[in-house]
Amino acid sequence: MDQSPPRTGGRIARTLRRLGAALAVAVLAVVAWSWWSSRLPASYSATEMGLPITGLASNGHDRGHGPGGHASPGTTALPVTALVDPAKGPADVRVTLVAKAAQITPTNGKQFDGYTLNGTTPGPEIRARHGDLVEVTLRNADVAGGVTLHWHGVDVPNAMDGVAGVTQDAVMPGASFTYRFVAQDTGTYWYHSHQISHRQVAAGLYGAFIVEPATTTEAWPDDAVMLLHTYPSNSRAINGTVGEVRRDAAPGERVRVRVTNTDNGNTAAWVTGGAYRLLAIDGTDLNRPTPVRDTKVALTGGGRADLQVTVPSSGAVRVQAPGVSFVIGPKDATAPETGSPTATLDPLAYGTPTGLGFDPTTPDRRFALAVGRRPGFLDGRPGYWWTINGHTGASVPMYLVSEGDIVAMRIANNSGQSHPMHLHGHHMVVLARDGVAATGSPWWVDTLDVDHGQTFEVAFVADNPGIWMDHCHNLPHAREGLMTHVMYEGVTTPFRLGPSSGNEPE
Ligand code: C2O
Ligand code: CU
Repeated sequence: MDQSPPRTGGRIARTLRRLGAALAVAVLAVVAWSWWSSRLPASYSATEMGLPITGLASNGHDRGHGPGGHASPGTTALPVTALVDPAKGPADVRVTLVAKAAQITPTNGKQFDGYTLNGTTPGPEIRARHGDLVEVTLRNADVAGGVTLHWHGVDVPNAMDGVAGVTQDAVMPGASFTYRFVAQDTGTYWYHSHQISHRQVAAGLYGAFIVEPATTTEAWPDDAVMLLHTYPSNSRAINGTVGEVRRDAAPGERVRVRVTNTDNGNTAAWVTGGAYRLLAIDGTDLNRPTPVRDTKVALTGGGRADLQVTVPSSGAVRVQAPGVSFVIGPKDATAPETGSPTATLDPLAYGTPTGLGFDPTTPDRRFALAVGRRPGFLDGRPGYWWTINGHTGASVPMYLVSEGDIVAMRIANNSGQSHPMHLHGHHMVVLARDGVAATGSPWWVDTLDVDHGQTFEVAFVADNPGIWMDHCHNLPHAREGLMTHVMYEGVTTPFRLGPSSGNEPE
């Protein structure tokens, strides 16, 4: 008889195999579940696009007030369509913009399939004075995916915010939509489509929107718009012109150069031929800005910087950004091109402090917005997706506020890349960066560059009811899920997102 000892090795191997199989099944089940649960319905409301958090300290835990967008007891539901400007009568500034698909040949000859507004890209510069009623009718001639116009940085009433699927439906070929709002804030802004924006903005649907003070003063001398843009054929342009742009100005003349970064990535601007002052960031004037030289100004995607330059007694002044420059001076005068300075102006400690108009030290709500990244599924697609507070897709936090709240937000980034975080409908003030308090002029932004490893403390006053996007302005990142909303309690939207809705704001 064979009395061989029990084959322990074999049994262990068998058990391991079984365990392995069970583990594989479990892993598969988890993967299948995360795939399944990441899928979004064919159409859904922005108010269901996240888990509402209230930021209220009272109960220690933030469990929200139930599904967002549903009126809490005691509040009446307010549709975004009701959030319009009450101003009646004829507009002070009236523009019609016709969006069209076109083959575009920039001045360097490198063609691409893009879009125009009234036959050009960028679209016409729109100028208003503080307090003007602005009326812009957008007509879509033939842009197949539909279009909208968003007034970047302008605190318009919510119904005028131009976000397809949140504040309106995309304007389809043959249709039109009229935007009406009072220009409340002076400064440098821009407009762009907020439908399929990751493609439409780069391909041409954007322009400058400038609000001048009601009366021109010494502080507002001559100004020049400098719209930086990179077209899909990799053509770097200023105001649509590739390479160098000129403007005539007499020696001694001071010009406010409104540098606007309409691209997805960060850029910088610097000045040769004299000192300059950084007059404004994201449309808001800085308090007592001092002259600087051999220093560049950083511009995040969507951000603006107004530089005050003075034409020297001989030669010209050159405002440069990588690949392009704007020469200002007498005819034929020029200034040498220079490389980018190594020093970067730090707005955290530039200019002089002054009142904010509110007290950010006792906020009504405290929120965290931490950007990360992890592998997983987004609407059923596998990828390495951006996360907000660890979540993706429909489970990112959605920030609930009430009108009048002072809101503090900590924006952190540990995702490996930088993100220009853009909040619609509000101006945020930067209080601190990486634990260092701001010591300069109030630094108001609508688009804040948050680098990998950085943490910002910002605050804003919730004074503009609506459902407001808060997203990365590196628009492909927004498309990859780096997008959420600040939502006023009780505000609802009749508009829908998702493939069957025809609305695709990213
Ligand atoms: Cu400049 Cu949500 O956009
Ligand atoms: Cu980003």
